Amino acid sequence: MVAGLELPSPVGAAAGLDKDCKFLKPLLDLGFGFATGGTVTLSARPGNPKPRLIRDVQRRAVINAMGFPGAGLDAAERRLRSLAVFSSQLLASVSGTIEEEVLECHARLQPLVAAVELNISSPNTAGLRIFHEPARLRGLVEAIARVKDRPLFVKLPPWSRDAEARRVALLIADTAVSAGADGFIVSNTHPVEDARLKVGRGGLSGAPIFEHTVRMVAEARSALPGVAIIGCGGVCSARDVWELMSVGADAVQLYTALIYEGPSFPMRINRDLLEMMEQTGAKSVREISGWPPG
Ligand SMILES: Cc1cc2nc3c(=O)[nH]c(=O)nc-3n(C[C@H](O)[C@H](O)[C@H](O)COP(=O)(O)O)c2cc1C
Repeated sequence: MVAGLELPSPVGAAAGLDKDCKFLKPLLDLGFGFATGGTVTLSARPGNPKPRLIRDVQRRAVINAMGFPGAGLDAAERRLRSLAVFSSQLLASVSGTIEEEVLECHARLQPLVAAVELNISSPNTAGLRIFHEPARLRGLVEAIARVKDRPLFVKLPPWSRDAEARRVALLIADTAVSAGADGFIVSNTHPVEDARLKVGRGGLSGAPIFEHTVRMVAEARSALPGVAIIGCGGVCSARDVWELMSVGADAVQLYTALIYEGPSFPMRINRDLLEMMEQTGAKSVREISGWPPG
């Protein structure tokens, strides 16, 4: 259960895996408890020039500078409409560089999904950072809150161990909650420079960022008691899911581990998580706490 949504598994598919909402049902069939379509933008976009994605197999990581390639809102809306019967397990991620674009995406996709994710944190899209500015973010979230009838999650940018970075990130979170957001995705890819990418920099995902996800979820949970938190970043096993839930996540999302582990991964992670719950006597994921068993 996250922000009132009943989910068959707390492990979901993160945004970016299915940008155009073409295979959300197959993702659910793999065992994901929920799947996020998008990030959807108002107009079709080509994304950044290639090369824009690098696999770092040894570290089980990816660096991407996709820059929101996608077919745009009309196509996503059409496809989500045809998935109405599964909508209780679907999230839509929306974004844009001006308020009107985001509001249009939200208004048209909200009726077709269980919850909406507002992506203000992709490191690869020029212009998104304007919504890190508290006044701009407040205006946008308040405008969404006036029309929303299901949960709104804001996907936060990652923050370092540095106290000032934490303060800035948690100010964004605080602003979003007081403006009407119901929860957060903690967090997006971590900005890195890499000359192999045509644009010279991108976002790191996968195993190397997991330790930061644990820290950020714990910090967000103690700063924001009572809001829904979806932990995202480097989840590679049921133990990782356990760890994030025991520091305060209500659910998790993943992307990169699916690339390395293959399509049986969501089922395996569900099975392993259930085994761990049996070992500890936890009757629901809400009862997950402490160190993972075994
Ligand atoms: C190729 C790629 C594309 C992504 N595209 C998006 C996107 O469109 N919107 C978004 O919010 N996050 C996007 N992400 C970030 C993921 O949703 C997730 O936050 C991040 O990869 C960390 O999780 P992971 O380590 O499990 O992959 C993308 C990630 C990758 C690797």
